[in-house]
Amino acid sequence: MGQDLVVVEGLTKVFPHGEKDVDVLKGIDLTIEEGEMLSIVGKSGAGKSTLLHLLGTLDLPTAGRILYDGNDVTAYSSSRLAEFRNQTIGFVFQFHHLLPEFDAVENVMMPGLIRGTARGPLEKEAKKLLDEVGLSHRLTHRPGELSGGEQQRVALARALVMRPRLILADEPTGNLDTGTSDAIHRLFFDLNKSRGLTFLIVTHSRDLAAKMPRIVTMVDGRVDRDDRRPVGENGEAAQESAPDTAEHASQEAEDSETAEESSPGAAPGA
Ligand SMILES: Nc1ncnc2c1ncn2[C@@H]1O[C@H](COP(=O)(O)OP(=O)(O)OP(=O)(O)O)[C@@H](O)[C@H]1O
Ligand SMILES: [Mg+2]
Repeated sequence: MGQDLVVVEGLTKVFPHGEKDVDVLKGIDLTIEEGEMLSIVGKSGAGKSTLLHLLGTLDLPTAGRILYDGNDVTAYSSSRLAEFRNQTIGFVFQFHHLLPEFDAVENVMMPGLIRGTARGPLEKEAKKLLDEVGLSHRLTHRPGELSGGEQQRVALARALVMRPRLILADEPTGNLDTGTSDAIHRLFFDLNKSRGLTFLIVTHSRDLAAKMPRIVTMVDGRVDRDDRRPVGENGEAAQESAPDTAEHASQEAEDSETAEESSPGAAPGA
């Protein structure tokens, strides 16, 4: 860990909605170091996915800057941005969006195929990644022939195929059972350790939050808390420090309900 990978400055996002604009992000400042394991928690509607989208350069902020290695990517042209995104960021969502007519290897190869990467090395890399996520025995299975957890592992392998530096995950284990979720969470920590890969994970899972070395709590479009905890041998937050903060994070989320309801309307014409 060390160098700043991402620096977010004064980030705001306003969605025009009919007569009234919706202020979703109200000035986010956040620094993510290379190799960090960070989770974003907060109540539904707090703006977590919106922030993730902006960090992923899938959408532009209304104001503010997002610097990767000191470069303001919000100023990039769309073609440069696509290139940057492809090389730097891997996405994992709650619903994996695997292509049903392709097998596991082909699904993992897909981002490379789209970019025109040579087939041979790409296939080799895809198989290696599937092995790394524990699926070497399911290479030729199509998504419909895989369990939910296995599908999510394929999606993770796909996110890794372009060798990103940052994984942005939105509820990656949101629809999986506890055992399967735990195994995937373990995989995140293993990849963090083996590759120095940075993870930013939006989650409602208290189990996962309890393990994360850093938890950013969002309330109503703002960063309300930024907690860092001591880390054990396996890269997870030391257990004795965990439950309290996770409890707090979820309590904080509960508390934000009132704040959200009483928040003033967005300024028009922003
Ligand atoms: N395109 C849009 N137009 C108008 N409002 C939007 C738009 N997208 C999101 N919002 C609003 O922004 C707020 C934040 O949404 P966001 O998806 O970021 O929340 P979240 O924290 O990810 O919630 P959840 O935990 O339920 O996924 C919500 O109140 C949502 O209704
Ligand atoms: Mg969301």
